[in-house]
Amino acid sequence: MRILIIGGGGREHSIGWKLKQSKKVKKIYFSPGNGGTSLIGKNIQIDNSNHQKVGSWAKKNKINLVVIGPDQYLAEGLADSLQKKNIKVFGPTKIASEIEWSKSFAKQFMIEEGIPTAKFAIFNNFEKANSYIKKQKFPLVIKADGLASGKGVVIAKSFLEAESALKEMMKKKIYGNAGSRVVIEEYLTGKEISIHAFSDGKTTKLFPSSQDHKRIFDSDSGPNTGGMGTISPLPWVTKKLMLEIHKKIVKPTIKGLEKRNRKFVGVLYPGIMVTKQGPKVIEFNARFGDPETQVYMRLLENDLLDILFSCIEGRLSKTKIKWKKESASCVVLASGGYPGKYKNGLSIKWISDIKGTSVFVFHAGTKKVKNKFVTNGGRVINVTSTGRTLKNSLNKTYKAVNTIDFKGMQFRKDIGVKSL
Ligand code: AMP
Ligand code: GLY
Repeated sequence: MRILIIGGGGREHSIGWKLKQSKKVKKIYFSPGNGGTSLIGKNIQIDNSNHQKVGSWAKKNKINLVVIGPDQYLAEGLADSLQKKNIKVFGPTKIASEIEWSKSFAKQFMIEEGIPTAKFAIFNNFEKANSYIKKQKFPLVIKADGLASGKGVVIAKSFLEAESALKEMMKKKIYGNAGSRVVIEEYLTGKEISIHAFSDGKTTKLFPSSQDHKRIFDSDSGPNTGGMGTISPLPWVTKKLMLEIHKKIVKPTIKGLEKRNRKFVGVLYPGIMVTKQGPKVIEFNARFGDPETQVYMRLLENDLLDILFSCIEGRLSKTKIKWKKESASCVVLASGGYPGKYKNGLSIKWISDIKGTSVFVFHAGTKKVKNKFVTNGGRVINVTSTGRTLKNSLNKTYKAVNTIDFKGMQFRKDIGVKSL
């Protein structure tokens, strides 16, 4: 089979790496891919927002399956456009993925379906939002309704901070139309986890639990990023908690979407806060997480291609999914200055070979220039490993991190530490 993977991050490299292990996969294309994906497949340059071009390229190149990584293309309806051309796609349609690209839709949906989430109010009007926050307790969470590259959430510690966030989103429009509407939400306390589930529209199967580390600096300080590292599974997340999340959150979500003619085929990824009152949804994502996928691909035992097709063809209930009984970890090496401004084109030094099959390096913002790799993005490299225990895996990952260097390289030194 011939596969096209849309995206160019560590997530897409790891999905490609896993698919490449399938005997049925002949060739993998990445659009646009990165330095690492060019080693396992072919990088192509098409504008992924131009559905006509993506579709005709896929037809011409006899692509059997398109896997969509980033949320942006799901929100733009790329899955719908490809399906209309009879091209098989892994990833939900535009209206199914609205659960990610509109926070107000997701919130109203959760209320209607009785899915546990933070209390909230929705506003289209700055004056009304501003008078509402005068009566609230702090901290308070202000969210732009639409996609804002993971930046549209402000945890306001005071009225002034909340007011300034509202002004930036609703008046200055720093996120464009994504901030014309805002969700104002109760601040939840607890432990945050990432849940992923394969869905064929009816049946759902959970991945092991995982955790992202969103802030740039150690001890969860500094600004939010796309994600600086992951571990899976979390030692403290019990089977009972996973069953509760499946029953109270994942199943009713998929059922509720089906009821609304928004059948969800793909990966549902709710971000969850485990509170004293139980698990509550912070947000829904309609895709694989990044960097969560980098550890999941290390733990998955099945042929990924079989699972993707069993979702598309509605036979997930008959597919047994097996995960290694090991721990995995991922540490992201980022450019100096990220998540703010950073330089590209810096040469990456591989100080020594990383030996042993339990360590694998997925590329994100890298580019191959004359047989050498240079930086080409905020998050540059994902170092992953598996081990018998979390501690064991973290030791291996950090040892391998020390073999890579580029000017200004920054990474978190405390990935997974809270779970040890
Ligand atoms: P999101 O983009 O919705 O994932 O939000 C970014 C981060 O803000 C989340 O990963 C949480 O750490 C935090 N956050 C979002 N909503 C809440 C909430 N209601 N209570 C506490 N923290 C939140
Ligand atoms: N792990 C963060 C994200 O994929 O949105």
